[in-house]
Amino acid sequence: MENRNKNKVFLDINNKKIDLPVLSGSTGPDVVDIRSFYKISNLFTFDPGFTSTASCESSITFIDGDKGKLLYRGFDIGELAVKSTFLEVCFLLLYGKLPQKNQLDDFTQRVTRHTMLHEQMIYFFRGFRRDAHPMAIICGVQGAMSSFYHDSLDINDPWQREVASIRMIAKLPTIVAYAYKYSTGQPFVYPNNSLDYAENFLYMCFSVPAEQYKSNPILNKAMDRIFILHADHEQNASTSTVRLAGSSGANPFACIAAGIACLWGPAHGGANEACLNMLKEIGSVDRIPDFIKRAKDKNDPFRLMGFGHRVYKNFDPRAKVMKESADEVLELLGISNNRTLQVAKELEKIALEDEYFIEKKLYPNVDFYSGIILEAMGFPTSMFTPIFALARTVGWISHWIEMHSDPDKKIGRPRQLYKGNLERPFVLIKDR
Ligand code: SDX
Repeated sequence: MENRNKNKVFLDINNKKIDLPVLSGSTGPDVVDIRSFYKISNLFTFDPGFTSTASCESSITFIDGDKGKLLYRGFDIGELAVKSTFLEVCFLLLYGKLPQKNQLDDFTQRVTRHTMLHEQMIYFFRGFRRDAHPMAIICGVQGAMSSFYHDSLDINDPWQREVASIRMIAKLPTIVAYAYKYSTGQPFVYPNNSLDYAENFLYMCFSVPAEQYKSNPILNKAMDRIFILHADHEQNASTSTVRLAGSSGANPFACIAAGIACLWGPAHGGANEACLNMLKEIGSVDRIPDFIKRAKDKNDPFRLMGFGHRVYKNFDPRAKVMKESADEVLELLGISNNRTLQVAKELEKIALEDEYFIEKKLYPNVDFYSGIILEAMGFPTSMFTPIFALARTVGWISHWIEMHSDPDKKIGRPRQLYKGNLERPFVLIKDR
């Protein structure tokens, strides 16, 4: 018997014939709806790391890993990175459409007027050591926001969800900039609402009260583009963390703090910091073969940071745009002979010609070039992942809102394949 038709798959389990619905999206692979599977088969499915599992329906972002395609609400990332701005992309991700000019002006005005932190929050920063990793600081301060903004905690009130969203998009740059200033011992610089989003972030990071500061417009554009490229990416680990935290009814500030914590890992958002550290460790082009050899050695846990992706099996379209930006920024700053960039370009070339990387379909991802730009702009490596978190906040929030708007939403609660002890009697310590 044919084991599926357009709308069903047919299984024969212990001589019991069961059929499961097949659901189709607007594009991408169909899915087998297994919500009733355990009930009718008494079996769990098993998929650690969710390599074959769709966790939800979503209309926000779509990735075609084979074609190296990334769409935000249907718009290609390459077009958005060149033709749009980060705040316009925020509006697109949140509301599903490109704004009219008056809508964008209103949205920009609302975000701009939420850029300051409650003054009492500044004391949170002072509780950290000066050499604390900024991800530890922003994770803590972000979670603490729920203790200040009590008028936007009710997840069932769409208006409060909206206010919390605007607050976080507006305040993350301030929190991240303050974390950077705190690490340098320089005073915090309040947001300047006459500046646009990316320019204001650079201003809060690099200006000092003692003198005038004006960031270079090309660096403002590069910063804004980096935000756009990092804004969202389907159900990645940190977005799935935010959805899972949100499914319990946790407040929006706590959910985003959970996303920040997950993003910190070097296999995920921490890869940009790890990648630049790796490029510096390689140090020169002649040392690249040794590192390639290590990356291929099964007994060596070393991996080429900034390479590989769960979904992209051709190339990461964000890496392409990032590479172009890296050339522009370094050219502008007069450091086009940047040694780290030379190592990165040569590493990319060698790796892409190596049969191991070709066979494993390992290509540079978004983190491979971003660190080079951020370092050239003056950021220490420890600030790379906080900047990723700043940009990804709008994606996390968009998924959090989408989840709460789902009438079928329920708390996420996976099962397991238990391999532990069967029930056994307790033995008192004197008898052990
Ligand atoms: C991000 O999910 C997202 O969308 C994430 C992200 C986003 O925007 O949210 O795109 C951001 O996290 C990008 C990825 C950043 N991480 C890194 O650059 C760290 C290095 N990359 C690897 O850790 C790895 O490639 C992952 C974690 C990114 C993907 O891992 P998978 O999909 O689970 O693949 P895998 O670990 O099973 O690897 C498949 C094979 C393995 O070999 P075999 O066991 O089949 O023999 O490829 C090998 C791996 O050993 N491999 C690598 C490698 N990445 C995978 N070998 C050397 N160097 C690497 N970088």
